[in-house]
Amino acid sequence: MAIRFFSTHLYWSLLILSIYLHASDATQNYNVLKFGAKGNGVTDSTQAFIKAWAAACGSEESTTIYVPKGRYLLGSMAFKGDCKNSDIKIHIDGTLVAPADYRILGQADNWLSFEGVSGVSIIGGALDAKGTALWNYKEKGTKCPNGATSLSFTNSNNIKINGLLSLNSRMFHIVFNGCQNVRVEGVRVIAAGDSPNTDGIHVQLTRNVMIKSSSIKTGDDCISIGPRTKNLWVERVTCGPGHGISIGSLAKDMDEEGVQNVTIKNTTFIGTQNGLRIKSWARPSNGFVQGIRFIDAVMRNVQNPIIIDQNYCPHNLNCPGQVRKSLKLFTIIED
Ligand SMILES: *[C@@H]1O[C@H](CO)[C@@H](O)[C@H](O)[C@H]1NC(C)=O
Ligand SMILES: *[C@@H]1O[C@H](CO)[C@@H](O)[C@H](O)[C@H]1NC(C)=O
Repeated sequence: MAIRFFSTHLYWSLLILSIYLHASDATQNYNVLKFGAKGNGVTDSTQAFIKAWAAACGSEESTTIYVPKGRYLLGSMAFKGDCKNSDIKIHIDGTLVAPADYRILGQADNWLSFEGVSGVSIIGGALDAKGTALWNYKEKGTKCPNGATSLSFTNSNNIKINGLLSLNSRMFHIVFNGCQNVRVEGVRVIAAGDSPNTDGIHVQLTRNVMIKSSSIKTGDDCISIGPRTKNLWVERVTCGPGHGISIGSLAKDMDEEGVQNVTIKNTTFIGTQNGLRIKSWARPSNGFVQGIRFIDAVMRNVQNPIIIDQNYCPHNLNCPGQVRKSLKLFTIIED
């Protein structure tokens, strides 16, 4: 009896405590439906998302933008800093859909881009970039735009992406360019094995990046790592189909900053063209690669499991002369 009384008492105390905590939780919630978004797949919701972002970005408190179940048609749009708070969560239960006609995004470099933001998290959700039409035109050699990257972060800090699904991008799926402190977890990328330039995650000019527990099935690189990438940790990522995890191509330019401190651990490659690759052009360049660790990779049905190409020249057209590049402190640790 005494114990029951105690536990009931404890229960009420906890309940009151949790109500108190919720009441004092300063997060503002912005549901995109309140800004006029329609999850019917046909109404253009771009303006509604821009307004929801403006509200969240202008808030002095932590905010959550909520996207309920449904399909939201969005054109090319930018989520821009400088925000008044540095904790904006975008919680997505629905799917963001690009216009089916590839000409609508036209020459845009990005479909959804975040520029100069800090403390943005994307939780859940799906991006359907509807890239197949553009891939077909590219295949036929028809004159057409390069295509937009689905999700890009530029000059941004403290970014988290958790549980996002990215489908059929027109160009790269997810790009980090000039960012710091990035955490990607539980992300799935799906595009056809023969889709052109549909890299899964591309990182460049960026430091302190963790990519964990993700699955990337695509037509180009699973993860591609460009100049001035520093402190990148990749763990428990499954790649394939696609071209594998690639550092480079590097040495495109004379003045180029190096790639350093990259750990790629416990990755699985299934049916990929390459496993772990480093590629650089044979051009004069002060670029470099150092402190790279490949640990515990499992490769099934991979054409080139480990490949270091210092004379990279796709299609063998106008290849530059051979110049030796520095490759320092390079270790391959095989399990
Ligand atoms: C290398 O990167 C890891 C994260 O990937 C970080 O924990 C570590 O401190 C870095 N090492 C150096 C020497 O910067
Ligand atoms: C690698 O990750 C898988 C799950 O993806 C796990 O089952 C396995 O134990 C891990 N292996 C190592 C060596 O950490």
